[in-house]
Amino acid sequence: MNASNELNPQEAVAREAALAHVKAAEKTAAQIPVGDAAPRPVAQAAVIGAGTMGGGIAMALAAAGIPVTLIDANEESLARGLARIRDNYENSVKRGKLDAAVRDERLARITGSLSIADVKNADIVIEAVFEDLALKQGIFRELDVHAKPGAVLATNTSGLDIDEIAAVTKRPADVVGAHFFSPAHVMRLLEVVRAAQTADDVIATLMDLGRRMGKVSVLSRIYPGFIGNALFRNYNREAHFLVEDGALPHEVDAALKAFGYAMGIFAVHDMAGNDVGYQTRKAQMATRPTDRRWNDLIMKLVEMGRLGQKSGKGWYRYEAGSREPQRDEELERFIVEESERMGITRRPISAGEVVKRCVYGMINEGARLLEQGIALRASDIDVVYVTGYGFPAHRGGPMYYADQIGLANVYRDIQRLHEEYGYWWKPAPLLEKLAAENGRFGDL
Ligand SMILES: NC(=O)c1ccc[n+]([C@@H]2O[C@H](COP(=O)([O-])OP(=O)(O)OC[C@H]3O[C@@H](n4cnc5c(N)ncnc54)[C@H](O)[C@@H]3O)[C@@H](O)[C@H]2O)c1
Repeated sequence: MNASNELNPQEAVAREAALAHVKAAEKTAAQIPVGDAAPRPVAQAAVIGAGTMGGGIAMALAAAGIPVTLIDANEESLARGLARIRDNYENSVKRGKLDAAVRDERLARITGSLSIADVKNADIVIEAVFEDLALKQGIFRELDVHAKPGAVLATNTSGLDIDEIAAVTKRPADVVGAHFFSPAHVMRLLEVVRAAQTADDVIATLMDLGRRMGKVSVLSRIYPGFIGNALFRNYNREAHFLVEDGALPHEVDAALKAFGYAMGIFAVHDMAGNDVGYQTRKAQMATRPTDRRWNDLIMKLVEMGRLGQKSGKGWYRYEAGSREPQRDEELERFIVEESERMGITRRPISAGEVVKRCVYGMINEGARLLEQGIALRASDIDVVYVTGYGFPAHRGGPMYYADQIGLANVYRDIQRLHEEYGYWWKPAPLLEKLAAENGRFGDL
């Protein structure tokens, strides 16, 4: 952009092209290799777990006109879940976003229950209980008993191996991942996850249900974090390394915002709560490989009580009643001391380096997903990023962005980062191949 913040004609054309790419990519995502498999009819649904996700999923189903039974094992949790749904609708009505009559219709479609046997009439069951494999397996064993034959059995797991969940049932072909994003009644993205034995018509059913709920469904295969969180790990990791290497949180965030993100990653962490994932991370620490660099600053923040907005301080500090991140000298001193403790000589880091390390890490991982067939096509990864992860739409998504820069250029930088930083930057073979052929992700 020039000094007056207006786009020059070339930039304006590039933006238009990127936005057109995103629009086309959303349509393309619906084209999936399921032969002539037709969706199974879905007239009735059940959701298990009335927590954050279960409640949102129930609202998304109700909005699509589908009656849903919302089941929780705990009476209080069910009551709380149903109350939250009512509050959500109430707020929408108050803000003039929803008609009172529509609210009543939708509310009437949601029925609470404390018994898993009440899945009996559902054409699709979506499980959204705590992220615990044994717990989910227990639920799927019960679904095997109570769900009607031909019912689609979906799990909203963020990271568990869906094959291990499918394996406990006598009907693994009916089991599929339905990875919604929070809040599930608002976020447009739905990752549909194909497990080893998932039937084509089950995939078709989920893709179609996503459309009915007004979502953009993207098909993924099983992989740690599926498409979205697999790339996000790379983005997140580099942001934290940058802070250890010399940037301060507000500098990383400013660079990401200048690139087009609505919020920087550290502000996002403070909003979501730095304690999200703390236990999982802690559990993984003991067994993680020692041949590569890890980053645990966020855990130290949690241990210092810096949970984010909810505790008034995290990567930033917050005045009472405000969500506006303010630089925090105490935190910045702590970061500088941590770098010193790790033996890192801090250096000035440019906005360009921030964007490169955060975004190129995602591009390299995206190339891995493509070569392993986890994602069907580069544009699907772009759709996931623009609709689910706040990637600036006017950049077209990470893979489109890479194509614009030129894969030979991206590869050269990743190779250099690999020489400098080691393990995490090992170039994906597909990226290397395309770079050598002057190829593009978009032409695969
Ligand atoms: N929160 C997110 O941003 C998010 C995003 C995508 C996916 N997920 C996944 O969605 C799932 C649910 O997450 P959440 O954040 O909604 O959790 P949550 O803690 O808000 O809700 C879980 C609910 O499950 C209920 N429950 C527990 N055991 C049960 C049982 N045996 N039968 C019926 N109900 C039971 C609990 O009472 C609780 O109401 C997890 O697998 C999580 O990984 C979460």
